[in-house]
Amino acid sequence: MKYQKLGKTDLNASVVAFGAWGIGGGSVWSDMNPAVKDVSNLLDAAKDLGINYIDTAPVYGTGMSEKLLGEALKGRRDDFLLQTKCSLNWRNDGGNFHYERDGYTVNNDTSARAVKKDVEDSLERLQTDHIDLIVVHYVCKDWPVEETMGALQELIEEGKVRAIGLSNSQPADLDEYEKYGTVALVQEQFSLLAPYHGISYFPTVAKHGTTFQVYGVLEEGFLTAPDYVDRTFPKGDVRGKLPWIHDPIRTNIHKMFEAVQPLTEKYACSYANLFEAWALKQYPNLNLLTGFRRVETMRDTCKCLDIELSDEDARLIWEAAKPAQVREIDK
Ligand SMILES: NC(=O)c1ccc[n+]([C@@H]2O[C@H](COP(=O)([O-])OP(=O)(O)OC[C@H]3O[C@@H](n4cnc5c(N)ncnc54)[C@H](OP(=O)(O)O)[C@@H]3O)[C@@H](O)[C@H]2O)c1
Repeated sequence: MKYQKLGKTDLNASVVAFGAWGIGGGSVWSDMNPAVKDVSNLLDAAKDLGINYIDTAPVYGTGMSEKLLGEALKGRRDDFLLQTKCSLNWRNDGGNFHYERDGYTVNNDTSARAVKKDVEDSLERLQTDHIDLIVVHYVCKDWPVEETMGALQELIEEGKVRAIGLSNSQPADLDEYEKYGTVALVQEQFSLLAPYHGISYFPTVAKHGTTFQVYGVLEEGFLTAPDYVDRTFPKGDVRGKLPWIHDPIRTNIHKMFEAVQPLTEKYACSYANLFEAWALKQYPNLNLLTGFRRVETMRDTCKCLDIELSDEDARLIWEAAKPAQVREIDK
């Protein structure tokens, strides 16, 4: 495993972080519903592999991901840096409508009152007295940044939180949040198929010394195997809403897999590793947040850190992907 300091903090995090959205189940990840036993096995494997960094959020499985982690972390909380989020909640006590899912209405609220309540609720579900890094899940312009950052700084002073991050933000948001404190990382969508938001963000994170944490690097599995795009997903499953399953993108993804297949032989790696190694090459302080529900996928992903992708091969991968890329994606 390789490690990196998150932003300007002293939090020493594994470059591969364990994304725990999928373990929350619900209609979003409907083909598997992990239980505490499975999450414990994942944490055992993470420890074995040197992964010391977990990302979750209140809304992943409407509390389920945090609850399962809280149970599985009993007796070993200090083995991991634990990151969760604030702003999206299903309390129905204010905020702006964000989405409806599994019978719950989720609102976005970055007021001081709401983010403090979010943190209290997460501490309880996670059965811990502190969160290492709290991420504003969806940056929102309806409350002053000064108010949101003020509340987060108070949580740091109270010892409930150690560092702050932003997600689903723009470079100008990072500039604004940095006026009122320090942002250790931004957690943003970035993949070979949807790379443009990240590319436009790199100069601003470099300016502030902020870690760029990637989510969706494997596009929820679509970048792991050619036939993934031919699967069908039940209603509500997040993967059924992505653009990859529709032509002409679907066909272009098949062509991309064909074009890069020789590289999987050259580097003796999986497709997932090839695309993860490509992402790691794009920015030096990049943290690879990858979703796992199975020990095998967690083990495989860690192998991407051993790949030294040549510039020429990185270019080949980019050219092969170009016809399948989208400029924007909303998850
Ligand atoms: N801030 C936000 O708005 C936001 C949005 C989306 C995600 N996130 C966070 O980012 C994390 C990662 O993103 P993601 O879950 O969307 O998707 P992802 O990392 O693009 O893909 C996860 C999927 O890829 C599979 N996988 C992982 N490594 C693999 C490998 N080496 N070979 C084959 N398959 C592999 C996993 O399989 P298995 O499930 O079978 O193990 C899972 O289905 C989430 O868990 C969540 O914590 C944040």
